[in-house]
Amino acid sequence: MTVISISSEVLDEVVATRRDLHAHPELAFEEVRTAGVVERRLAALGYEVRTGIAKTGVVGILRSGRPGRTVLLRADMDALPIEETNSLPFRSTVAGKMHACGHDTHVAILLGAARVLMERRAELAGTLVLCFQPAEEGKGGGREMVNAGVLGEPRVDAAFGLHISSNYPTGVIAWRPGPFFASSDSIEITIRGRGGHGASPHESIDPIFTAAQFITSVQQVVSRNVSPVEPAVVTIGSIHGGTTHNVIPDSVHLLGTVRAFSAEVREAMSERIERVLSAACRGTGAEYDYEYLWRYPVTVNDAKETALVAEVARDLFGEGRSIQGERTMGAEDFSFFLERVPGSYFLLGASSSPETSKPHHNASFAIDECALESGVQMMVALALEAPRRS
Ligand code: NI
Repeated sequence: MTVISISSEVLDEVVATRRDLHAHPELAFEEVRTAGVVERRLAALGYEVRTGIAKTGVVGILRSGRPGRTVLLRADMDALPIEETNSLPFRSTVAGKMHACGHDTHVAILLGAARVLMERRAELAGTLVLCFQPAEEGKGGGREMVNAGVLGEPRVDAAFGLHISSNYPTGVIAWRPGPFFASSDSIEITIRGRGGHGASPHESIDPIFTAAQFITSVQQVVSRNVSPVEPAVVTIGSIHGGTTHNVIPDSVHLLGTVRAFSAEVREAMSERIERVLSAACRGTGAEYDYEYLWRYPVTVNDAKETALVAEVARDLFGEGRSIQGERTMGAEDFSFFLERVPGSYFLLGASSSPETSKPHHNASFAIDECALESGVQMMVALALEAPRRS
C-alpha cells in the first residue's frame, strides 16, 4: 500500500477551509469570494495562477520541469439556492443559499492537495493543472471553462475530478469505467389550442386535453423506442394552463427533463418526443412550440484512467474501499472535460450516520468530514501517479 500521509496541520486547514466556504455559499458564476480564497491560497503556495476564467474560474499550474503528462484536477465551487435547515456552527450565513451538494468540500480538498503537492514537488512529473470551476449546478460552468481554453495551454492529457457522496460510506472510492452519470437535457413546450366555454368543448380546441394525451403518450419513447437494456428517462416536471373550472384555456405550458446513458439514445430523444407531441396535436387540431435544450452530455469515463483511479484507491485504502459505483441518472458537467480529454470522475463516500445520509440538494444535506482526508490523499496520489502513465 502506498502511504500518502496528510499532516494534522494540513487536515485542520482543509476542515477550516471547508467550514468557511460552507458558511459563505455563492451561486453559479457569482463565486467571487470563493475564487478569492482559491487565488490567494494558490498564489501563496507558489502556483502560477490564472483568474477570471469563465467569469470566476481559477486555475493553478505547477510545472515540474520533468517529462510526463499534463494532468488536470478539477473542483467545482458553486452552491445552491436552498435555505439550510442544519444547525451546524458553520451553517450557511447567507439566506436562501447553501452548499447542499458538497462543492465546498471539493474546493477544500483540492486546496489541501495543492499544499501537499507543493511540499512534495520534488516527486512530481509532468505538469499539474488545478482547475476550480464555477457554476456546475445547471449552468454549465465546465463547458465555459473548456471553451475558455483551460484544456489547451498547457495542453491537458488527462483530467480527474471527484464528487463527495452521501450514498457511500465514509472513505469509500466509487469509480466506474464508461458512462457513469446520465446526460441531462430540458424540453419546453407550449400547446396552443383555442379557448372557450367548458360546456361547449366542440367549439374549442382543448390544450389541456391535448397536453394530457401527450404526457401519457410520451412515455412510449422510453418503453417502445429506446432499447429495453438502455436506461432513459422523460419526466414532465411542470404543467401550467387554465384559470378556473369552466373555461378551456388558449394554451398549456410544459417543462420536462430528459436523461440518457449513451450519446446515440440522447441524440434520438429530441425527435422522438417531438413526434409524439406532433401526433397529439394533430389529433386535436392544436399547434405547438417545442424547444429541446441540449444541456449536459453523458459523463463517460475512460477505461484506462478509471483503472488508474481504482488502482490508486486500492493502494491507498485497500480493496474494500475501492469499489465499482452504480450508474446514476444525475448529471455532471465534468462531462464537458471528458468529451475532450480522457479522464475519470469518481465518488468519495462521506456517509456514516443518518445525518450524513441525506440526499444531495436537500436542505439538511451534511457530510462526514472524516472523508476529507481520503479526498486529499486521492488527489495527491493521482497528481503524483497520473503524469507518469502513458
Ligand atoms: Ni454536485
